[in-house]
Order: sequence, then C-alpha cells, then structure tokens
Amino acid sequence: MLAPAPGEVFLDGTTGAGGHAAEIAARIGAEGQLICADADPAMLEVAAGRLSAFPWARLVRSDFAELPALREAAGGRGFDGILLDLGISSLQLEDPARGFSFREEGPLDMRRDPEGGGPTAGEILRDARERELADLFYRFGEERFSRRIARAVVERRRKAPIRTTADLSGIVAGAIPRKAWPRDIHPATRVFQALRIAVNRELDSLASFLESVPEHLSPGGRVAVISFHSLEDRLVKTEFRRHAGRAGGGPATLELLTRKPVVPSEREVGENPRARSAKLRAARRTG
Ligand SMILES: C[S@@+](CC[C@H](N)C(=O)[O-])C[C@H]1O[C@@H](n2cnc3c(N)ncnc32)[C@H](O)[C@@H]1O
Repeated sequence: MLAPAPGEVFLDGTTGAGGHAAEIAARIGAEGQLICADADPAMLEVAAGRLSAFPWARLVRSDFAELPALREAAGGRGFDGILLDLGISSLQLEDPARGFSFREEGPLDMRRDPEGGGPTAGEILRDARERELADLFYRFGEERFSRRIARAVVERRRKAPIRTTADLSGIVAGAIPRKAWPRDIHPATRVFQALRIAVNRELDSLASFLESVPEHLSPGGRVAVISFHSLEDRLVKTEFRRHAGRAGGGPATLELLTRKPVVPSEREVGENPRARSAKLRAARRTG
C-alpha cells in the first residue's frame, strides 16, 4: 500500500528497530530520502546499526506528531509515503528497566522518552485520585474491573508504596476475580496498556498526527497506520473517513485504500503472536 518507489521521500514515524525503515530505504534507493523518527533515543541507536547501509535514511529524535518539523528535515517537500507502526517495540517491552512489562520486574517508569518531563507510571499510581485511576483504566485499557482495581491500588498505597511492575501486576491480578481473568492475556495487560497510553499521551499524538497528515503528503502520497488496540484503530478509521469527505467537513483530501482494516493471517499470528491485534489502514492523498 505504501508502494515506495525509487527517488521518493518517506517518513517512518515509528522507526523502532528499523525493520520497516530498512525495507523502505531499500526500495526508494539512494535517490530517495527517508526520515526515521522515534521519540525513544535507545531505539534510534538500535535503528542506526540496521540502517547504516542506507545513508539516505536520516534518524531524528522526535514525536511523529511534529509533522512540520519532520517535513522540514526532508527539505520541506511533502512526503510520498508515511508509515506509523504504533505502540512499543519488543525491545522496549523486554527491557525490565523501562517498566513496560508485567512479566519482568522493574521500576514503574513507562516513559517512551526517558528524559521527557511527564509523570512516570509510578507517579500516576502514587498521586492520582481513586476516581481518576478508575477512569484511566477504563478509558485507555477498556478494563471492566477498573473501579475494583483503582480501589485496590489506593488501599495498597496507603500501606506501602507501589514501586515495581511486579507490585502492580500482583495488585491487579488480586483485584480481578479469578474466574473473570482473561483467557488469552495476562490479567494486568489492560492496566499496563492504560498506564503506558496515559504516560506517553499516545492518543493525543495520534490525533494530532491524523488531523494534519494530508497537508504533509504530496499529491498521490500514501499514509499507512498499524494500530494495536481499538482506541487507536477507531481514531484512524474516523479521521481517515473524515479526510475522505465521508463524515462532513471540507473537500476530500484522502482516498481510502482500505475499506476494512487489513489483519494478519492465522499463520502470521502463529509465527508472531504479538501481531494478533494488529490492524492496518491506509489512504492516499488526492490529486
Ligand atoms: C512497534 S515499534 C515500531 C517497530 C518498527 N516498525 C520496526 O520495524 O522495528 C513502535 C516504535 O514507535 C515509537 N513511538 C511510539 N509512539 C511514538 C510517537 N508518538 N512518536 C515517536 N515515536 C513513537 C516507539 O518508541 C517504538 O520504538
């Protein structure tokens, strides 16, 4: 759907370990330009190794919502293609020091940019009111037991600080009745997701990106977004439709390339279980 062609100008807004970026770089070739953005400096270091064979790929530490600056970095022309592959990479997830994983014991940090100023997950759990925590777990985690979990957090923090990912997993697992534990995911998955989204203001970045993305595409330019939960996918779907002139608003600036999201085959999920919730939507800038 992105169909990178020789000489084109591309943005990978979520470079991560550089897997997609390397594929794009190879297709656009030395005449092309690729801006590789990531908010996490540790991921840019990993990507730098993988992309060293492609000097036309430029690494930029940035939120993908900073489209005007990213476009400037590419010389000011619109992009022929933009990719977002949302969320966190397996490398971030598996590093206990980052605090993203309920499987590894680590500090409750979860900031994508460790030098970013915002509160960490631990600070939110320490400072937010019970009601705020319940809303956060419900809204960003779609967690049915949000109130019970919020109550358990507040009860526990009165006795002792919640310091580690293991502390939090234990509290969440204890607050959800055993018979209601989800079958295919860890009971703390949704709460960890909710905190990660809140700490990094993930939906704000995505909404801001989606609002202006057509302006930063050249005529015929493509945008593709891979999302991993329904809140993200809903935003992508409604914003793409709005730009395609289907839900009111001005003239159409995008044409949908996907009516329904593209999802992985059973075989792909078998080979890579983390792909199971992925949804891909793509659109093309109108002439
Ligand atoms: C799922 S990984 C991408 C993996 C990548 N496609 C690859 O092939 O290795 C998501 C990456 O996007 C980054 N990221 C997520 N949200 C971001 C944002 N708003 N701005 C910049 N980078 C972001 C994360 O730090 C992470 O490295």
